[in-house]
Amino acid sequence: MCGIVGYVGEQQAQGVVIEGLRRLEYRGYDSAGIALVDRGTIASDKRAGKLANLEKALQDHPLVPSTTGIGHTRWATHGAPNDTNAHPHLGRSGRLALVHNGIIENFAELRAVLEKAGHTLVSETDTEVAAHLVENELESGADLTTAMQNVCRVLEGAFTLVAVDAQDPSRVVAARRNSPLVVGLGEGENFLGSDVAAFIEHTREALELGQDQVVTITRDGVEVTGFDGSPSEGRRYHVDWDLSAAEKDGHDWFMRKEIHEQPHAVADSLLGRRTPEGLLHLDEMRLTDQELRSIDKIIIIACGTSFYAGMVAKYAIEHWTRTPCEVELASEFRYRDPILTPSTLVVAISQSGETADTLQAIRHARTQHSRVLAICNTNGSTIPRESDAVIYTHAGPEIGVASTKGFLTQLVACYLLALYLAQVKGTLYGDEIGNVLDQLHEMPDHIQRVLDGEQQVYDLAKEHTGSRSVLFLGRHAGYPVALEGALKLKELAYLHAEGFAAGELKHGPIALIEQDLPVLCVVPPQGRDQLREKMISGIQEVRARGARTICLVEDGDEAIAPYADVLIRLPKVPVLLQPLVAVVPLQLFACELATLMGHDVDQPRNLAKSVTVE
Ligand code: F6R
Repeated sequence: MCGIVGYVGEQQAQGVVIEGLRRLEYRGYDSAGIALVDRGTIASDKRAGKLANLEKALQDHPLVPSTTGIGHTRWATHGAPNDTNAHPHLGRSGRLALVHNGIIENFAELRAVLEKAGHTLVSETDTEVAAHLVENELESGADLTTAMQNVCRVLEGAFTLVAVDAQDPSRVVAARRNSPLVVGLGEGENFLGSDVAAFIEHTREALELGQDQVVTITRDGVEVTGFDGSPSEGRRYHVDWDLSAAEKDGHDWFMRKEIHEQPHAVADSLLGRRTPEGLLHLDEMRLTDQELRSIDKIIIIACGTSFYAGMVAKYAIEHWTRTPCEVELASEFRYRDPILTPSTLVVAISQSGETADTLQAIRHARTQHSRVLAICNTNGSTIPRESDAVIYTHAGPEIGVASTKGFLTQLVACYLLALYLAQVKGTLYGDEIGNVLDQLHEMPDHIQRVLDGEQQVYDLAKEHTGSRSVLFLGRHAGYPVALEGALKLKELAYLHAEGFAAGELKHGPIALIEQDLPVLCVVPPQGRDQLREKMISGIQEVRARGARTICLVEDGDEAIAPYADVLIRLPKVPVLLQPLVAVVPLQLFACELATLMGHDVDQPRNLAKSVTVE
């Protein structure tokens, strides 16, 4: 949610900043802007709309050469997405330029004080207030680092700020509280970015920052302090993926590429999880066996697609560990005064590791002394850092706004967590755990087989470009899959799409069924016959009322054929693991339908990846 870039070094900053913004554009694409330091002045341009608009403007009116600059790509919070509200914002005298990600909660009071002192603020943003405040400090004689520290102490809310001072081209200064910021460490140059994608082309050495820190980068150095100016340090790490992971690699969309990366991503998620003795091992499980044995309740918190991964996890955790498990939307969690104790394990699932709702939920859990375990894809992000333990999903960077490989690898991490708890608590025998692990290791091949059949799904999408509404049905672990299929279609094709627990149909939603309404049904595998038979009844009921039934069904299951208008075959896998294969055709369907409808699949309207505001 908003992407920010900073650069100081030997290269032309404009190219470095624009390239960084291109790689961060998935975080917001309401406007884009850049500011460079030019011999005592700030040269700046900013445009509403996608980065391409800014690039076009820069082609027509190039900025002066400079080796120090900042940039921003915006997901609007305060103020409409127009040129004026676009970042960077300048201070009163134009000496300072500043970009911001987050929300400054006390901006109205601060703005009133500034206006009373004679400042004219031209935008509706909270950011411009920070720009005026930091510039005031500069005008009173502070250097940019001290000015930033002084201002951060009066700001409330969540923010990452990055600023340059026209009178000091040697440095770029940034600050963070509850919003992401990483430093890229180069040779004779240094970088700032909302995430490492901003500078991965130049360096894979990064510095993770803590909360309430200010960082100053120069060509040759990086200095970290607290908001009070006290010296501090970041945590240095090596980024284990390279530029090619952040390229489309011949695909039309990042999303399609990421769907096709899933076999590999799932394999990577499973890598190195077994000891030579055959025991399951989770390397960042910083909770002792004793602590885990004392857990008597698990609460999973997450948002969106990650929440659906949590719903699948509940089935696995309760089945394998016999420990009660609740799943809750992070945005609802802390407002209902949940019952949390030191023996509650709170599991936060977040691809980005920065989602504000999830972050606030884990903070609440920690105030109640519950243990927090994060399932996360982003090394160095806030949620794992503030958790007691973490399972990284190792999916590689997910750039398409709609989560795909993020979801599948979250499922894998959830299964691993459930099995690990079962191992520690002794609710499954070692060979039972070994069997499930073997089945998990077969999943990359199964997912690949589903992908090999993509043409059938693409043909199906072609037939549905005129549909106004699509329903999804599932039971048990297939129910979250139905919800996820519907979410993908809503966010990418902007269609009315609903997922239902098939058993609930007759309690209301069946009234929606009309002639030729497409209904995608996730059929439980054979062997779970009670579930499957009930699902078949549901399919018959909707078909009898005119629905067009598209059934995702296990290979060799012929009982559905008479009631299915279309059969999509899935590999034979156990019911708990079926989401790993069943969701793939639904991802392909949404991606293709949105493409055929002419939508921007990687940057759907109104959305941004990594939602850092509550
Ligand atoms: C949907 C999607 C979102 C995210 C949600 C949580 O395709 O990507 O629903 O799943 O915003 O994001 P994370 O997992 O980063 O916390």
